[in-house]
Amino acid sequence: MARQTLWGGRFKQQLSEIALQFSTSIDLDKHLYIEDIAGSIAHVEMLAACKILTATEARRIRTALKAILKEIETGKFVPTNIYEDIHSAIEHRLTQKIGSLAGKLHTARSRNDQIALDERLFLRRAIYELMKLITNLQRVLLYKAERHIDIVMPGYTHTQRAQPVLLSHHLLAYMWMFERDYERLNQCAQRANKSPLGAAAFAGTPFPIDRNMVAKKLGFDGIVENSIDAVSDRDSLIEFVSTCSIIMMHLSRFAEELVLWTTKEFGFAEISDAYTTGSSIMPQKKNPDMAELVRGKTGRVYGALIELLTMMKALPLAYNRDMQEDKHALFEAFTTTRECLFIFAHILVHTTFKPHVIRESLLNDFLTATDMADYLVKKGVPFREAHEITGKIVQHCIEHKMYFGNLDLETLRLFSPKFDTDVFDVILPESSVHSKRSAGSTNPHEVKKQIVHWTRVLQKRKV
Ligand code: ARG
Repeated sequence: MARQTLWGGRFKQQLSEIALQFSTSIDLDKHLYIEDIAGSIAHVEMLAACKILTATEARRIRTALKAILKEIETGKFVPTNIYEDIHSAIEHRLTQKIGSLAGKLHTARSRNDQIALDERLFLRRAIYELMKLITNLQRVLLYKAERHIDIVMPGYTHTQRAQPVLLSHHLLAYMWMFERDYERLNQCAQRANKSPLGAAAFAGTPFPIDRNMVAKKLGFDGIVENSIDAVSDRDSLIEFVSTCSIIMMHLSRFAEELVLWTTKEFGFAEISDAYTTGSSIMPQKKNPDMAELVRGKTGRVYGALIELLTMMKALPLAYNRDMQEDKHALFEAFTTTRECLFIFAHILVHTTFKPHVIRESLLNDFLTATDMADYLVKKGVPFREAHEITGKIVQHCIEHKMYFGNLDLETLRLFSPKFDTDVFDVILPESSVHSKRSAGSTNPHEVKKQIVHWTRVLQKRKV
């Protein structure tokens, strides 16, 4: 079929097939057909209200647009690459249906403000979906944190065993991380919720349009005040994709921990068969592929962010065709983040923790060395000295292939006369977590406070 462009008057020649194939964005922006049609309907209703079109003209256009929406949904009309973009495809189809009246739809509008509008509408939908998925993941986290409130595990710094913490405390750290992501998405939605429509190409239009009316019809909080900014700006996309990048960074840290925890070396957890895979050559293998893929797919989203930032860098105002490339990054970031949030909640549901293995790793180490030093401090030893004494005790244990649990009072007193029998209670992992007094610490009372907080927040939450 012949190429279908929305322009041609000043040209002697048609756009070459090669140039059209190079420049069409239909494969990506066809996913914006719902937004494009919703925007056109609001626009045409406003044109009628402002007496730029007659009520009958507007009604005919609107009815036809609604029919096109159905046609695309049912596959009766397929936007293919004979069109430059989704806007051209829909307008061409409209012309087939209602003839030259279709040409009036684009009065006081340009594809420049049209695409900016479609993207802001899409963003609203995308953000809503991601917020729902974050809440879902947070609910799984809360469930796991409540269930495992009794498990004390080694906490790490530098991936080296450091101090005992509650597993629930560790899991709830992710809760706060995802909460910030949720807030960032919400803020991004609020900032993006302004209508660019009516900027036309970029300078505005001589027609007596009512931009606020269109904005209201489409559920925007207002209009983008500067028409040049309205068509030149892609900040909301960049904010969205950067938020997706942070979400993926959080997910990939969590994925990495699951990968570590499910190794033989750690053995803290096991992911169910349904969310792991085998090896085609090594019969014994059970691999955490889903978690690894979440970790791996993070690169796609970071890539999308760099893609957008680089595409926008140094672009002069106002619209430039470079900006058409934004859709790839937008959809890539959205679909990847969506599928990763979705699967990660499933992976987590299907992860079982191994309290006995975790317990053993706690005892076969020196995780309460800080508690031992603090014990001496409480008996009047300056912290630096207490640190040194405890370090020596650890060294002694390593040399004699033993742990704190094997020490007797006599041996301890060789290092400091301040030791007494009460030290044996202090160096138990449970005592260590209970000894913490600071707000937000791993003390079970503090962790339970977080659980109460999150139960309340997530119960009230609608999205
Ligand atoms: N397909 C274009 C985009 O996505 C729409 C705007 C085209 N405007 C233009 N003057 N060529 O950015």
